Amino acid sequence: RWIIDLSQENWREAPEAADVCEALIAGQLAAIPTETVYGLAADATNGQACARIFSAKGRPQFNPLISHVQSVEAALKHGTFNEDALKLAEAFWPGPLTLVVPKRPESPISDLATAGLQSVALRVPSGPVMRFLAERTGRPLAAPSANVSGRVSTTTADAVEADLGHALSFIVDAGPCQIGIESTIVALTDGTPRLLRPGGVPREAIEAVLGQSLAAPTDLSTRQDAPQAPGMLTSHYAPAAAVRLNATDVRTGEAYLAFGAHALAGAEGAVACFNLSEAEDLTEAAARLFAAMRHLDSSGAATICVQSIPETGLGEAINDRLRRAAAPRTPGH
Ligand code: TXA
Ligand code: MG
Repeated sequence: RWIIDLSQENWREAPEAADVCEALIAGQLAAIPTETVYGLAADATNGQACARIFSAKGRPQFNPLISHVQSVEAALKHGTFNEDALKLAEAFWPGPLTLVVPKRPESPISDLATAGLQSVALRVPSGPVMRFLAERTGRPLAAPSANVSGRVSTTTADAVEADLGHALSFIVDAGPCQIGIESTIVALTDGTPRLLRPGGVPREAIEAVLGQSLAAPTDLSTRQDAPQAPGMLTSHYAPAAAVRLNATDVRTGEAYLAFGAHALAGAEGAVACFNLSEAEDLTEAAARLFAAMRHLDSSGAATICVQSIPETGLGEAINDRLRRAAAPRTPGH
């Protein structure tokens, strides 16, 4: 484990930095924090390294990966950006936004990272560690969320260790992730900007920059054999417990995911309780969501009941993850 204190200016000079870069260049896996969640990273130009990501996560191979780069300039080498894509890159990078754009034929990103699609998902994270490692290795870094496929994403190094510790050469620990929910994914492949996944940048902020509404993914993109949108696999972000949404009361023996200052009736009968934000602050709630799910799941309760959360701003992403967590479980995911 490489423990980084980001408040110390010289973390980039730690000897571990060279070790992690060497491991990545050799095709090994490292868990690397971003501002959204921890990523399970590998050299995106190395097909074997990308294959290791899929096998470590137990991830279906058709689900493509996001490549992380250090700058807009670096991203432009891998994808073709239309005017809307450039506007979004300028407005939100570095930050929690992923752009799916046509892949440049000369990009060295492996077909395994893009699942053989003609498009590529690119992101310049604001978390400095991933950016630094992409720059220093000189490689785009493919990184899905660092969790076992279909399970809750990780926002701390301890959660990564519990899920994937056995498969990793390195865990880079820079403390808990600031945003706590994955990046928003927007596709700019057909002239119509489409929201593939709500996430850390609220829809409203993106629409304001574009001056138009985001469209839904195309039908084709929701097919499992040609995935354009993530988590179109029905169940995702699933804890072991069942999830009961929009609860209006807490039933005895349930774990309780609360939101706001007003507790639901029956709260005293909960075996565990976690309030995402007493102040009803959606930014705070997003940052705490995955840790909350892991915590409540560890109580052993058969069901987690969830108090309703507004659908505005980051609420759209939070509710998206909760709906997927509540979706019927498909075996093997
Ligand atoms: O915040 C995040 O986005 C985190 C951190 C580590 O950066 N990463 C993350 O990756 O959430 P992952 O693999 O869990 O989700 C990426 C999603 C996939 O579900 C995939 O469907 C979509 O991005 N994706 C990747 N490439 C794509 C492409 N070419 N076309 C459409 N969707 C794509
Ligand atoms: Mg994920």
